[in-house]
Amino acid sequence: MTTTRTHDLRLRRRLPLLGGLAAAGLLLAGCGNPDGTLQMPLQASEQAKDVDWVYYFIFWLNAFYFIHIMGVMAWFGWRYRRRPGVAPEPSPHHNLPLEIAWSLPPIVLVVVMFYWGFKGYVHLQTAPSDAVKVEVLGKKWAWNFTYPATGGSSEQLHVMQGQPVKLIMESEDVLHSFYIPTFRVKKDVVPGRFSSLWFTANRPGEYHVYCAEYCGDQHSMMRAEITVHPDTEEGRAEYQAFLASTTVMSGESLYRQNCQACHSLEGTIVVGPSFRGLFGSQRKVLEAGAVTTITADEAYIRESILDPGAKLSREGREFDDQMSAQNFAQRLEPEEVDMLVEFIKGLGEK
Ligand code: CUA
Repeated sequence: MTTTRTHDLRLRRRLPLLGGLAAAGLLLAGCGNPDGTLQMPLQASEQAKDVDWVYYFIFWLNAFYFIHIMGVMAWFGWRYRRRPGVAPEPSPHHNLPLEIAWSLPPIVLVVVMFYWGFKGYVHLQTAPSDAVKVEVLGKKWAWNFTYPATGGSSEQLHVMQGQPVKLIMESEDVLHSFYIPTFRVKKDVVPGRFSSLWFTANRPGEYHVYCAEYCGDQHSMMRAEITVHPDTEEGRAEYQAFLASTTVMSGESLYRQNCQACHSLEGTIVVGPSFRGLFGSQRKVLEAGAVTTITADEAYIRESILDPGAKLSREGREFDDQMSAQNFAQRLEPEEVDMLVEFIKGLGEK
């Protein structure tokens, strides 16, 4: 009995030492840093420091308990190991103060974690009413940003320092996830519904957007750049210049995005027939196995976009159907098809 008590006393004297070491480690390692830490990238939004605070609180709490529990366990294992000639100690069966001590503090800590976590979650869900809205479209494999202020869109996200920004996001095809590590924001982008997130960028610079949900073989390439313009005269001018440079959707921009690779405007054949002089002309086409001549009217152009295999051009060459695989009937909105038809009509009758 006497030896056990000496052991207990020695252990009790060492516990504060262990606790002190862990506390020193905690202080030395810090709890988040605007320039980034070993575990976290730099903090470029106003939300980032709160997220990091909760993260490091939970991390260090875990580290503290891990070190102490493992330390005490190893110490006991060694101290009370089986030795020849020493009878095993009887184990205590019930100890109320001890049981309260290991039940109550963890409950309090879990409630604190939940409180800070939930508070942060609600804050990240609730964009301020003066937030600038940007529409985000995720598709395999790029992000597209539309700025309602001008109606223009771009593959780059530009924001002002200190200005809350709310992103309203949707997917054109499969599940994606919009992730800006330096802003500590991430949200799934789900086909068939809108999701949103917001942030206030507080550090001028260029940052990355990633897709954080596997969405096909180019998933890792689904990235975009974010530019945060400084809140200065010059920064505001740069931001306005960017907005002015965004592409407002038009028949021409749709042509460049969707058709240009295969259809020229110069009369030359690239992959498919040229659009030059197409509208209103007489065209030889293969329809249901027979070559006929038709007038390239609006209905023909529309059908050729939505159902490319229906009439295959026999103008100058035997074109086969390489276009159905592009699935424009699914990819283009009805208004976009209208714009394209108008654009091709506007290329003039010849
Ligand atoms: Cu989009 Cu992964």
